[in-house]
Parts: sequence; structure tokens; C-alpha cells
Amino acid sequence: MTLIIAVDGPAASGKGTIAARLAQTYGLPHLDTGLLYRAVGMKVLEAGGSLDDEASATQAARGLDPADLSDDARLTTGEAGEAASRVAGFVGVRAALLELQQAFAAQAGGAVLDGRDIGTVIAPEAQAKLFVTAAPEVRATRRWKQLTARGIEISFADMLADIQRRDDRDAGRGSAPMVQAEDAVLLDTTDMGIEAAFDAARRIVEAARAKHDL
Ligand code: CDP
Repeated sequence: MTLIIAVDGPAASGKGTIAARLAQTYGLPHLDTGLLYRAVGMKVLEAGGSLDDEASATQAARGLDPADLSDDARLTTGEAGEAASRVAGFVGVRAALLELQQAFAAQAGGAVLDGRDIGTVIAPEAQAKLFVTAAPEVRATRRWKQLTARGIEISFADMLADIQRRDDRDAGRGSAPMVQAEDAVLLDTTDMGIEAAFDAARRIVEAARAKHDL
């Protein structure tokens, strides 16, 4: 039995938490693909490069090492998210990260991947596809709480502007834009806590499993 679960959606929609819990529930490996783009953005910045330079970003993506992904704290900052969404628009960067993600998805038994283009580009064959979203104000509130709990100071207005700018950039780019796959199920978590969101996600996956006789 192979079960690939694709979880896409915008920033702070709850997709990462949902993906991690689905992976645990079904005993599948989980890849947070946003970390790859975050690591590429941070490598460019740390080398003193420009986020507008496709050649440097592509080189950083090609040379990505699993060790680049282990330093969680650095990769979860707003700076890394912003850098990620800048380099994620480059065709060369996306091409360099494609094989690694597709190999992860193709593992025996399946996998859970979360990102922006999993159901559309990375694993269009996924048996279960979710597009997780929530109102921008709610997503900004969630992210603001996460950051302030870690002692990072940012105003709510700046947080909301960050989220909207990133949504626009991710949905507007020419290469693998963030879009709901035709066969993905929309999960709007605006009025849901994490338990309710996870329950809803699990029901979507159960329906997909039944449909595919898994
Ligand atoms: O957690 P959050 O949604 O803030 O960020 P993330 O999922 O770690 O993604 C950071 C950025 O990487 C996004 O804004 C996208 O620009 C990019 N990304 C992408 O283009 N494709 C993916 N599969 C995952 C992330």
C-alpha cells in the first residue's frame, strides 16, 4: 500500500502541524518542503549574496546538504520565510529541489509532504490532497503569537503585511505558483483550533483512502 498525502496552503494556515500529525497517525515520513526553500534563502544571505540573483540561489539549492536543514531556530525566523519566498520564484531553484522532493514522495509505503506545489507539481499522483487555508488576519494572529512566544518583537500590522506580501508573491509567480490542485480538498481552518483542523484533515484522508481502496 502506498499513501502519498500532499498538504499545500499559504503561510500559517496550519498545514505544517496538520502534516506532522497525519504523518504520525499513518506512520509515514514527513517532509516540510518550506524548510528547503528557507535553507536556500539563508545560504544566499549568509554568503553575502543577493536574493535577486538566480544563479547564486540555484547554486545554493544544488548544493543543499541535509545539515543545512537541521538548524531549526534560524530557519523558522520571519527573515528566512521572506528569503525563502524570494528564491522560491526562481525556476533554477525549483528544478534543483524537485528530484529530492520527488524521491521523498516515492518512498515505499508513501509519505506526507507539505508546501505550496506538492499536489500540483511534486506529487500530482498523491492519493490524498489537502489545500489548507484560513483568513489572512487569523493566520497573521497565529504567526504573531508563535513569534512573540519566542521573544521576537513584531507588530501585528507588520505581521499581516508580511503574510499578505508572501501570499501575493507565492500565488503570483510564474513557476509552480501556489494554487489549489483541481482534485485537492479545501480545508478552511479560520474557525478551527488545531484539534478540529486535524480531525477534519483526517476525515479527508480517510475518504481518499476509501476511494483508492487503501
Ligand atoms: O510556514 P510558512 O508557510 O510561513 O512557510 P514555509 O511553508 O516554510 O514556506 C516558506 C516559503 O517557501 C513560502 O512562502 C514559499 O515561497 C516557499 N515554498 C515554495 O515555494 N514551495 C514549497 N513547496 C514550499 C515553500
